[in-house]
Amino acid sequence: MKVSKLLIGLFAGALSLAAYAQQPIVIKFSHVVANDTPKGKAAEYFAKKAAELTGGKVKVEVYGNSTLYKDKEEMEALQLGAVQMLAPSLAKFGPLGVKEFEVFDLPYIFDNYDDLHKVTTGPVGQQLLDKLQPKGIKGLAFWDNGFKSFSLNSPIKVPADLKGKKMRIQSSKVLEEQMRALGSLPQVMAFSEVYQALQTGVVDGTENPISNLYTQKMHEVQKHLTITDHGYLGYAVIVNKKFWDGLPADIRKQLDEAMVQATRYANQIARVENDQALEAVKKSGKTTVYVPTAEERGAFKKVLVPVHQKMAGRIGKETIDNVYKATGFNPNK
Ligand code: LMR
Repeated sequence: MKVSKLLIGLFAGALSLAAYAQQPIVIKFSHVVANDTPKGKAAEYFAKKAAELTGGKVKVEVYGNSTLYKDKEEMEALQLGAVQMLAPSLAKFGPLGVKEFEVFDLPYIFDNYDDLHKVTTGPVGQQLLDKLQPKGIKGLAFWDNGFKSFSLNSPIKVPADLKGKKMRIQSSKVLEEQMRALGSLPQVMAFSEVYQALQTGVVDGTENPISNLYTQKMHEVQKHLTITDHGYLGYAVIVNKKFWDGLPADIRKQLDEAMVQATRYANQIARVENDQALEAVKKSGKTTVYVPTAEERGAFKKVLVPVHQKMAGRIGKETIDNVYKATGFNPNK
């Protein structure tokens, strides 16, 4: 009797162990934007590829639209291991203490996606990702969103049109300085709160790539949008380093491959998604879209490029120079 009970016990134990062994490794991937944005779509794509390439051994659960964490909380959650993966905007790394990342926030530092990719897919980008390790974070890739434009309830043609306006920004000393250079009043606020703040007049305007503006319906509460393309907003895909290093080597390799494929996808769709969002904003008839002339664009540049010099002490001159060298940017032109 005793022996049979023992055998049953052992058998049940073996069964539950086998069931346990088949449990997939879960990666929680949190982000703050809508699911039908470049980041939202790329996160879903990564989840699909991760399941495929690991033969179901990894399950990536994507939580979009700030459903799990808001801006500031998500970085803490990653460091604590409450989530394993994020793709925060590059502006989020300055407040973490990795100020070199703020180079991405400098207005007009990238003319286009090609210039940007010279940094994000080259040695300068890799060096920046490596700087995250002491924070317990492993940087896996850069994902594009796009170039930001200003929106307001009044027309924007010249820099002076932003004077005295309360402008929502992400938490970033560079973006604060950018807004001050325009004479605006920067207001730091979580992404999930921007729509309501615009609707109730807590802030007058904001800056965003059009995919973010449109998917958060900000165009419904902003009468004017001017395609200034004055700065870049993109992401670093990051994981909790301890979690990542603890994965079986073969699984990590498959996930690396899934990330390569997801990054290719992310950077393929970003521009198209933003172009389509702009068409949708125009079609909505709720916002007047203005494309500045070369001269008007030049006037914005003249006011905003000096922010580079002003923030060099904080970001590090070397980092800024490395980006200039990679892209060929000339601040005096
Ligand atoms: C923002 O707060 O404006 C952005 O970080 C949102 C995002 O992740 O694209």
